[in-house]
Amino acid sequence: MSRLVLGSYPATRLRRSRASDWRRCLVRESVLTSNDLVLPIFLVEGSGVRKPIKSLPGVAQLSIDESIKTAKEARSLGIPAIALFPVVNPSLKDELGTEALKPDNLVCRAVKEIKSAVSDIGIICDVALDPYTTHGHDGLIVNGDVENDSTVEALVHQSLILAKAGCDVIAPSDMMDGRIGSIRKALEGERYTNTMILSYAVKYASSFYGPFRDAVGSTSALGAKGKHTYQMDFSNVDEALREAAFDVAEGADLVMVKPGMPYLDVVAAVNAHVNVPVLAYQVSGEYAMMAISAKAGVFDRTAVFYESLLAFKRAGASAILTYAALDVARALISNTD
Ligand code: PBG
Repeated sequence: MSRLVLGSYPATRLRRSRASDWRRCLVRESVLTSNDLVLPIFLVEGSGVRKPIKSLPGVAQLSIDESIKTAKEARSLGIPAIALFPVVNPSLKDELGTEALKPDNLVCRAVKEIKSAVSDIGIICDVALDPYTTHGHDGLIVNGDVENDSTVEALVHQSLILAKAGCDVIAPSDMMDGRIGSIRKALEGERYTNTMILSYAVKYASSFYGPFRDAVGSTSALGAKGKHTYQMDFSNVDEALREAAFDVAEGADLVMVKPGMPYLDVVAAVNAHVNVPVLAYQVSGEYAMMAISAKAGVFDRTAVFYESLLAFKRAGASAILTYAALDVARALISNTD
């Protein structure tokens, strides 16, 4: 990028390298394959359930048996991993999110069943209390705010339960300070030496999460402060570098930037700053913008998703979580036939 040698016309004609498909193939700088995609799955109780999510056209809440079918399809398309998000029955929610700590909760049962039915697929589980709390916050509330250290204790407990169920990648999305080190220590203590930690190291307080909160039913009563006392201010990049470096030092194997498309500058900056792979999350609001526009005939769905995901690769992301993973993987496979 820095070696900018300017030729002069007509000795240099930049269109020469674009004049046919083979030339474009030869000089292509970034590529997207289905190996770069991670599919998020929303889980519900029941069997045979595929319940469409209104704000995310093309995405459904799946019962465990259906999630197994989807996971099998994903793996056969070359998608290496899925990320599980439980939709918790409101009657199981409380102030402390205790359901998160039950070894037979929905997500733990799903991990076990998917693991035994689908070979060689990575299972990523979110670590945070928000699907389980009545207030919808990611941690424990003390004096009107999410308290850091007691929340970390709960998250360590949640992580161990997930690891025990067979989860391959623990993904804390809560933004508490110090949780990566505590979780790593606990995993090593219990000899989960191969369990990876994907830290949502750089997670901004974003309005783009709207449809997700609708999908998991956690919109509820966040209060005036929202999640701003723990998720990052979207004005900041230097702070993102501090967050990422902090989590790597504490034992994160992978770090995530989230949201994705409006934050590709952050993906590039973090990638240049830390020496672990950087993943990015094309979040629910980003998906909704494109899926709803495509439905309205504004543009071609697959082409727009492909272009948007390639942009993540250009920015330096090693993999991307996207609700469009299956469609894009199918298109990538059929294009190479
Ligand atoms: C919960 C969590 C959220 C998302 C992933 N994990 C929502 C939030 O922080 O409020 C958002 C994902 C999306 O919007 O697609 N900790």
